[in-house]
Amino acid sequence: MKQELLAQIKEIVGEGSFSTKIADLYVYGFDASIHHRNAEVIVQPRSTEHVSRILKLANENRIAVLARGGGTGLCGSAVPLEGGIVMDMTRMNEIKEIRVEDLYCVVGPGVIYDKLNEALAPKKFFFPPTPGSGEACTIGGMVATNASGMRAIKYGATRDYVLGLEVVLANGEITRVGTRTIKNSSGYQLERLFVGSEGTLGVITEVTLKIAPKPKKSAMAVAAFDSLEKAGKCVSAIIAKPLIPSAIELMDKICIKAVNKTMHVGFPDCEALCLIEVDGEPKVVEDEVKEVHQICKDVGAISVEFSTDPKQMNAWTAGRKAVLPALSRYGPEYVSVSLADDMSVPISRIPETVVAFQRIAERNNVIVGTYGHAADGNLHTKMLLNPLSPESWKNGEKAVAEIFDAVIEVGGTVTGEHGVGISKAPYMQKERSEALRSMEIIKKALDPNDILNPGKLGEWKGSIIRHLRYPCRID
Ligand code: LAC
Ligand code: ZN
Repeated sequence: MKQELLAQIKEIVGEGSFSTKIADLYVYGFDASIHHRNAEVIVQPRSTEHVSRILKLANENRIAVLARGGGTGLCGSAVPLEGGIVMDMTRMNEIKEIRVEDLYCVVGPGVIYDKLNEALAPKKFFFPPTPGSGEACTIGGMVATNASGMRAIKYGATRDYVLGLEVVLANGEITRVGTRTIKNSSGYQLERLFVGSEGTLGVITEVTLKIAPKPKKSAMAVAAFDSLEKAGKCVSAIIAKPLIPSAIELMDKICIKAVNKTMHVGFPDCEALCLIEVDGEPKVVEDEVKEVHQICKDVGAISVEFSTDPKQMNAWTAGRKAVLPALSRYGPEYVSVSLADDMSVPISRIPETVVAFQRIAERNNVIVGTYGHAADGNLHTKMLLNPLSPESWKNGEKAVAEIFDAVIEVGGTVTGEHGVGISKAPYMQKERSEALRSMEIIKKALDPNDILNPGKLGEWKGSIIRHLRYPCRID
């Protein structure tokens, strides 16, 4: 990038919010995926006006711009494939308004998920999507990926809470989409267009979110099974009752072992377990606990343990949230990588899908841990690969393709909550083949010079085992 342009960028945000130091460019080249690419300049805008002026300049000079939040994404959405400007949005972290009487709040994109909930808690409200990375991920990033987590079955994903957005378009124009009202039939629902757009259509500078009252009580159960398939059947048996729990987390034996080894949560040593949470009015919770117990027994659970003790429930939740880091300590030569990591299938197809994953792992000689937010059909797999071995990556990529074929076959989607980034781009293209043309048209209309997070989503071509963060070349 030319010195003159760098000087203009620095002038917009100021010395302390601008860096071209090699260490910063390196660090900002990562998210939590397998991918990495150095940025050319880092800026930390503090206002919509900063964002607008930078985009205008970048657009005139055809420079790539990537807006990022906490960098917790697992598939490369925040990796600057074409270098350019990385815009760290975390300084725009003001909680501007909380209006419980109107059921909404207005926040900057850099507000951290847990911080928003800390601010809502005294008013007995919350923003429910519960991503695993809630301590660090930002609301802007959640909107950009339609993030969610454990409680989506009952409370929905981020998209269900986005009432309105302020967005800066590629040419620097500031626009407002959506409303501050709970209902809105006023033309195109454009706020939805930016949900899941992963920074390719505009930069989100303000978010108006619907909020929900916090449930009065909750209870949890750990149900152990002697097969992954039975655990999967338990999930749809609960839903079909009908009983909508606030969460059902499924874990296979690889995940249970890894968590028990690192966290000492004392999960039962079994083939698979379901961690089931119900919440609501105390009497309803009491009745639902009984119903859940009966269903688990009917489906053939080996054991079911209940708790309403917050300490115990927090320990179980922490154990579940630790699956991802715990898997990385499975064995010295392995790292746990996120590749086919968050597909969603119709809930009743879980049993056959998880069995298919086990067969695919065996066939391709890779260790696969399966877990996920099974209540809504969202499954995670983590592959344990040797990141320095090209053969290990090749086996992994083959398994990924087979996993996604199995998911598409049962009417699922390749990403339920983490987004597409790089790791899922070719598979998203396969899944959405009929929508790609419309996506292209929208992208071209909003970002004709292709400066916003270029090379991602529909633009990605070829193998995903590229731009690796590990020193391993694959030809
Ligand atoms: C989780 C992340 C990986 O649920 O989505 O742990
Ligand atoms: Zn998850």
